[in-house]
Amino acid sequence: MNILILGSGGREHALAWAVKQNPKTDRLIVAPGNAGIAILAECADIGILDGATVVTFCEENAIDFVIVGPEAPLAAGVADACRAAGLLTFGPSAAAARLEASKAFTKEICDACGAPTAAYARFTDAAPARTYIAAQGAPIVVKADGLAAGKGVIVAMTEAEALAAIDDMFGGEFGAAGAEVVVEEFMAGEEASFFVLSDGETALPIGTAQDHKRAGDGDTGPNTGGMGAYSPAPVLTDAIQKQALDEIVLPTIREMSRRGTPYQGVLYAGLMIENGRARLVEYNCRFGDPEAQVLMMRLGAQALDLMLACAEGRLAEAQINWADDHALTVVLAAKGYPGAYAKGSVIRGLESQPEDSRHMVFHAGTAEKDGAITANGGRVLNVTARGVSLSEAHAAAYAMVDGIDWPEGFCRRDIGWRAL
Ligand code: AMP
Ligand code: GLY
Repeated sequence: MNILILGSGGREHALAWAVKQNPKTDRLIVAPGNAGIAILAECADIGILDGATVVTFCEENAIDFVIVGPEAPLAAGVADACRAAGLLTFGPSAAAARLEASKAFTKEICDACGAPTAAYARFTDAAPARTYIAAQGAPIVVKADGLAAGKGVIVAMTEAEALAAIDDMFGGEFGAAGAEVVVEEFMAGEEASFFVLSDGETALPIGTAQDHKRAGDGDTGPNTGGMGAYSPAPVLTDAIQKQALDEIVLPTIREMSRRGTPYQGVLYAGLMIENGRARLVEYNCRFGDPEAQVLMMRLGAQALDLMLACAEGRLAEAQINWADDHALTVVLAAKGYPGAYAKGSVIRGLESQPEDSRHMVFHAGTAEKDGAITANGGRVLNVTARGVSLSEAHAAAYAMVDGIDWPEGFCRRDIGWRAL
């Protein structure tokens, strides 16, 4: 079949890598893609936020299956447009993607279905939000309601920080995303991610992972989109996964169906685990980045079969075969990220890195210039390896990192430390 993947990051490179290994794949196109993706698939530079553009492209290229990578096209209704045109599509409708696009909506769903999460209040004006914060005290968490590229959450350790966040959000720092603000209880514990496919009725867990959000070793420095990940996350024991499925994910999926907006796609539940129980931090309506890189490395070609079963409403009969192993990915970022950074520096040594079912350098932000691979973003490469143990995966990934010659880049040296 002919398959179109939308997106251009390391997540989409990993999705393309897994899909490409499946013999069902004839032609694989990624839009817009990047320099690494171009090595294994065709890339097409089309506007992926516009449903009509995507549908026309699919018709012109006889596409049989569309996989939507990032949240922006989902929130913009691209999956709706594809389904309305009769295209088989992996990714939730805009109405279902509100589980990521609106934090207040997610809270409303948790209330309706009884899913455990942080206590909260929502505000459209600064004055009552300030009064609420003064009454609750710090630590406390302030969230812009809408999509803010991962920057709309302030975990305030002092009341002054929380009040400053209220001023920023209602002052327009996040544009329309900050028109409504959720203020919630600070949850202590260890964070982990739980990935579940949903076809609207059946939920199929497809793995766990842990991300590293801070830029520096030892979880110091500014917050980023993620500096590395590993799968599985040992903190998500079988018992906690079952509790999260029974108390959080399944009630959410039932509530979304009951409202006439069934959730079809991957539901990424960010969980906080404390005293052996999980509470919901947030939902995302897509695979994580870089979590997808470790999940895809462990799932391989069957990822396509699972996404097809999801899109066709056949998850009840789907089978998943987990290799009993570990995967770890290290993000190489441009110096300065998540602040200002330069683009265009040349990355050497990639050609000598192994590329097989256990080792892969996924490209997150690269471009090709005169035959060389150059940095073209903040997060640039995801150096990924599998091993029978996490420490083996860790050693293999860092051996690859050390073979890459890119003085303008940096990475954390301690990915996986919690589990190692
Ligand atoms: P979110 O975008 O909602 O995932 O928030 C970004 C990060 O902020 C999360 O990954 C957590 O590390 C942290 N966070 C969000 N909500 C809370 C909370 N209620 N308590 C503690 N930490 C939180
Ligand atoms: N790595 C975090 C995310 O994809 O949201």
